[in-house]
Amino acid sequence: MENVEGFRVLGGEKIEGQVRLQGAKNAVLPILAAALLPEGETVIRDCPDIRDVHAMAGILRQLGCRCQAGRNEMRVSSAGLTGWEMPDGLSKQIRSSIFLLGPILGKLRRATVTYPGGCEIGLRPIDLHLKGLRALGVSVREDGGVIRCDGGNMHPGDVYFDYPSVGATENVMMAAALLPGVTTVHNAAREPEIEDLQGFLNAMGGRVSGAGTQVIRIEGVEKLRSAAYTPIPDRIVGGTLLCAAAVTGGEISLDNARPADLLPVAEKLKEMGCGVETEKTRVRLWAPARLRAFSCLQTQPHPGFPTDMQAQMLAAACTAEGTGVIVENVFENRLSHVADLCRMGADIRVSGRTAVVTGVKKLHGARVSARDLRGGAALVIAALGAEGETTVENAALIDRGYARLESTLACLGAKIERIPL
Ligand code: EPZ
Repeated sequence: MENVEGFRVLGGEKIEGQVRLQGAKNAVLPILAAALLPEGETVIRDCPDIRDVHAMAGILRQLGCRCQAGRNEMRVSSAGLTGWEMPDGLSKQIRSSIFLLGPILGKLRRATVTYPGGCEIGLRPIDLHLKGLRALGVSVREDGGVIRCDGGNMHPGDVYFDYPSVGATENVMMAAALLPGVTTVHNAAREPEIEDLQGFLNAMGGRVSGAGTQVIRIEGVEKLRSAAYTPIPDRIVGGTLLCAAAVTGGEISLDNARPADLLPVAEKLKEMGCGVETEKTRVRLWAPARLRAFSCLQTQPHPGFPTDMQAQMLAAACTAEGTGVIVENVFENRLSHVADLCRMGADIRVSGRTAVVTGVKKLHGARVSARDLRGGAALVIAALGAEGETTVENAALIDRGYARLESTLACLGAKIERIPL
């Protein structure tokens, strides 16, 4: 039985100092999936020590790959890849297991997966993934939650997405990388992690271009070779730490950052009265004694405001001067952190996907529960600025995307510790 842990936070300390960002979870997960495409061993450097990475490595091992976690790196060898049936239990543990569908089909021309199912933030269907693969000639049979894919007649082609889904775009890129001929994805997702997947595929000898725009072109190659690759830094971890400094009136410097990836968050924090300065790989923020409310924040696909930063910004708005509006356009159920923030004294009204936040002077400590990864990070941010002690339950959810968050924050001056519950 796994130990249940939480975080105890004593609020009121300023977050101050310098921190280096690690590789991005949402870049590393598809890159791990793509690591089964080449012959030989791939090395992923700056690989974050987080639960989702270990879960993905667990699935790769079950498929016959060798996965070796080292200091900040992961070595993957696909030489033993035999399995094309995704282990049910493990794939339910992590939604991103669906990212394996494209590379398994691309390499073995057949795959069986179970529906990854929904999660706390929404139903999360995979219809666009399947539509994309069908456009490449994959025959898909769905029965009783199992999806059997036959890629015997796969061919390159044009894929048009009704919505720029990150996962569906990545799956088609990986399915087409070893498919001789040209595949073109229209209305593709443009997130920085998509560009990073293109970078990784091309480092292995792939011919992918256009990532970061709405049209991606994949010229399939005979085979891919092994490579060593360093993923982009985690812009969501970076944004989370900027918010932590903002709500505590602190000052922080993020190293190994990509300022362009943090632009939407930095612009909103500037609107709230923070100072932000950027250099090539550094972002520095200094906060006023009290933030002022932003008028409105709408989450959108990139380059719009990232949905993965919505909860953290909502937490920051809880003690800002004035009233702000947040609209969650990407996921249908991503405001579940509101109830816990209100337990800490926040004034938030929700209607559908819209939250209206009227800032209060101070939040107070309470016992709250993380209900999803980013919502959990938002509760920790709120606790850092609150009066008194807060216990945030379900640290395991936060560990999915943050490597030892309590140590990072403690190094920046926070009074936070991991506790058994
Ligand atoms: C990726 O999820 C990220 N996960 C998510 O981060 C992130 O929130 C999301 O992109 C949007 O930026 C990883 O990269 C591992 P989508 P993904 O397909 O690929 C609907 C985090 O906190 N949709 O772009 O699942 C879907 O339901 C996580 O780190 C369909 O309707 O996102 C959602 O409403 C959470 N049909 C919207 O599109 C489909 O076939 C966006 O989903 C696929 C998606």
